Amino acid sequence: RKLTSLITAITLTSVASLAAASCEPGEIVAKLSHVTGGTTHPKVVAANNFAEQINKELDGKLCVEVFPNSTLFGDSKELEALLLGDVQMLAPSLSKFGSYTEKFGVFDLPFVFKDIDAAIRFTESKSGRGLLNEMEGVGFVGLGYWMSGMKYFSANKALILPTDAAGLKFRVQTSDVAKAMIKAMDASPQPMAFAEVYGALQTGVVDGQENTWSNVYTKKFYEVQDSTTETNHQLLAYLFMTSTEFLDSLDADVRATFLRIANEVTLQANLAVKDAEATNRQNILNAGGKINVLNATQREAWVNAMKPVWKQFEKQIGADLISAAAGS
Ligand code: LMR
Repeated sequence: RKLTSLITAITLTSVASLAAASCEPGEIVAKLSHVTGGTTHPKVVAANNFAEQINKELDGKLCVEVFPNSTLFGDSKELEALLLGDVQMLAPSLSKFGSYTEKFGVFDLPFVFKDIDAAIRFTESKSGRGLLNEMEGVGFVGLGYWMSGMKYFSANKALILPTDAAGLKFRVQTSDVAKAMIKAMDASPQPMAFAEVYGALQTGVVDGQENTWSNVYTKKFYEVQDSTTETNHQLLAYLFMTSTEFLDSLDADVRATFLRIANEVTLQANLAVKDAEATNRQNILNAGGKINVLNATQREAWVNAMKPVWKQFEKQIGADLISAAAGS
């Protein structure tokens, strides 16, 4: 595994320098940093597509370099770095904005979206689109929502009923809703940066985590967990974003092309996401990972255990927003 990590590091470094080398003198260089890896991950594909389109259409004017896998910034620093102008684009999970807005908690409510299609409908609705500009006051501009997938729990033992999770420690993103959800299972939440999850699972710092098939596969969590349970309990989606400062700095024609490409890539990414998730689910099985499928009664037990979380966050998120999401 050490050798694999070394090869990955060398490959990533050369990918990063290749991207850097393709920018010509006179072009504005814009960095897009994110935390996911592999080649089949929806965010990796969308970020690379965005860079490719920009670098083709805006050749000579704007050049985007992509830094995947937390190689430039990880979870804890990237939003600050965007405000400082050290990076120009990010695509963080919607669960990582707790310091800036409580409204994004709506995306984290357990079982609020039946599936990815319902989540896409919500993001395209008036309420969903309105949230894109929720943090303009801070200096963040939402360019689009990139879906990643529904989330599933994995642990160092098989989780069939929520009671199986009692007493375990789960890594969560920095989301108050996620923390409350884990507590509703009588388990303890441990917020942690994405880059640290594999090591924490391997060494037993945490017993489990929750994520999409694409993250479980590309980060190899299945290697250090007993199994992953198809709970489908929560959405993982990203805010593809830039800063007001960077967007305002672009010439009007460059800005218009930048925004059009952001929109086109977002639509394409969301059309492709279900296939990517299905492929990575199969990749986990092919690699020897175990998946537990729930029957209707078992699934109902997870819904019942977690549903009280909605009430806890009704004031912060807003009852109207919650019903708009739930009704999508
Ligand atoms: C996580 O931290 O689990 C995810 O948000 C990582 C990602 O960007 O998919």
